[in-house]
Amino acid sequence: MSTTESAAQRETAPSSGTAGGARVVGETARRRTFAVISHPDAGKSTLTEALALHAEVIDSAGAVHGKSGRKGVTSDWMEMERARGISVSSAVLQFAYRDCVINLLDTPGHGDFSEDTYRVLAAVDAAVMLLDAAKGLEPQTLKLFDVCRSRGVPIVTFVNKWDRPGREALELLDEVEQTIGLRPMPLTWPLGIAGQFKGLIERTTGEYTAFTRAAGGATKATAQVVDAETIAAQEPEYWQNAQDELGLLDEIGAGFDEEGFRSGKATPVLFGSALSNIGVARLLDSLVDLAPPPAPRPDVKGDDRPLEAPTSGLIFKVQAGMDKAHRDRMAFLRICSGRFERGMVLTHAATGKPFATKYAQSVFGAERRTVEEAFPGDIVGLVNATALRPGDTLYAADPVEFPSIPAFAPEHFAVIRAKDAGKYKQFRKGIEQLGNEAVIQILRSDLRGDQAPVLAAVGPLQFDVVTTRLETEFNAPVTLDRLPYQIARLVDAEAVEKLAGQSECEVLRRDADGEHLALFTNKWRMDIIQRKFPDMRFEAMPAGSSIS
Ligand code: G4P
Repeated sequence: MSTTESAAQRETAPSSGTAGGARVVGETARRRTFAVISHPDAGKSTLTEALALHAEVIDSAGAVHGKSGRKGVTSDWMEMERARGISVSSAVLQFAYRDCVINLLDTPGHGDFSEDTYRVLAAVDAAVMLLDAAKGLEPQTLKLFDVCRSRGVPIVTFVNKWDRPGREALELLDEVEQTIGLRPMPLTWPLGIAGQFKGLIERTTGEYTAFTRAAGGATKATAQVVDAETIAAQEPEYWQNAQDELGLLDEIGAGFDEEGFRSGKATPVLFGSALSNIGVARLLDSLVDLAPPPAPRPDVKGDDRPLEAPTSGLIFKVQAGMDKAHRDRMAFLRICSGRFERGMVLTHAATGKPFATKYAQSVFGAERRTVEEAFPGDIVGLVNATALRPGDTLYAADPVEFPSIPAFAPEHFAVIRAKDAGKYKQFRKGIEQLGNEAVIQILRSDLRGDQAPVLAAVGPLQFDVVTTRLETEFNAPVTLDRLPYQIARLVDAEAVEKLAGQSECEVLRRDADGEHLALFTNKWRMDIIQRKFPDMRFEAMPAGSSIS
């Protein structure tokens, strides 16, 4: 019997009620799985590095994203990403902090990849909303916040860049409450205005920590607890101001309310500086103490899959080309129940086929390590998982299927063709693979034929990813012709014939799920056609632009 079979068989025995089940529940309680949502430049990469620095996973900043001038393992793996200064790929960072295991999932920085971000947020239990102290809520933050709200993800707010001039703390809190209706509950309060930052006061205990910044900023600032009388004498004006503001917060009842946080109505707020590593340990402490551990996940029938049930997980992302040396494809699996053990054979719910997990890895920037075991909340990278697509379920023993992650309404369309007819085979293979990874939606019709599929994107940068990857990975140069459509609606298969011949409209079939999409040049045109066919159902999809 192979190791794989024995592992699979071991897992076939339900762990519920056994010593194994108790271990799963215990390990799950130690997990904190979250993502950082922010507008580009608010400091997400810097914060990620600062978090890892506190966890002592790495010994100097810059090891995660490898931004200019810093050394590092880079997650910006594509040349195109580097050239455009965007991050398409998604790294997963796992580290131990106190007695917890932290899983930090990176989200793409650019709105054109909002569908990707949406998928990542389907795999987290909490999010950190990172604000630039000088800018407050910015467009991309707002859109990502909407996704978190729609998924009921609790949010911890971190006000970053407090070391440099910015807005007033109370004004920022007011903006959060007024703009997104999230009740702020500051856990710490800054002494000194942004740019003249002295230290942080713990709201519940009143303890004051002074921070002295290190030169260059790439290392932790020195923290020192100072008693109230001393600091009141040193900084009388700032101290008095802070006391007045704290008094005001107490009056309006901005204390911590766990139920409000977990239900997504209120947010704990922390102040600091990711660059100087101020307030970052406090953020980690808050995640450990306040953020929810993984909970039983509802399946397609709406029943919760118990944590101690046999192993199951959701594929939330598929990424190719992460390792240039081996042209491979990695599927990211969020464990939802049971203990995952490398080598176990899981069932792919979509096809009923077995899936061997011999090559299970964790991904830290571009660095990989073999994963031997994992628990709910953990992310496992499955190498060469050609059959797996985002939204798929894998399970052991008891069959389960988790709800798929919805595809967004595309708003940009283009016909793609192989430039060189001799490269058609490579072209076809590439298109199929990119479609499977959900890099873009692929639409087809008998009229257009397989030589000229239509690409449907939420944001136009997705086209660039497709053309670059077809050329570099599949050696298939292409031509791309944009189509004048802007709106897509789900329709029945009968619409193909019924709408044939209607101008400024076309019906195509989506590769991923066989659904039919009617494309229209504009809303006006769509309304006219809808009036001509009053019985035809035009179903809207979740709008990517609402978070792009
Ligand atoms: P992002 O991933 O959200 O896009 O932001 P990133 O971390 O790259 O940070 C954007 C810029 O803001 C960087 O400066 C970074 O050093 C700076 N920054 C981040 N956190 C803080 C902070 O707490 N205080 C201050 N003062 N600056 C902060 P840059 O000059 O654009 O890049 P770099 O050359 O420093 O990497």
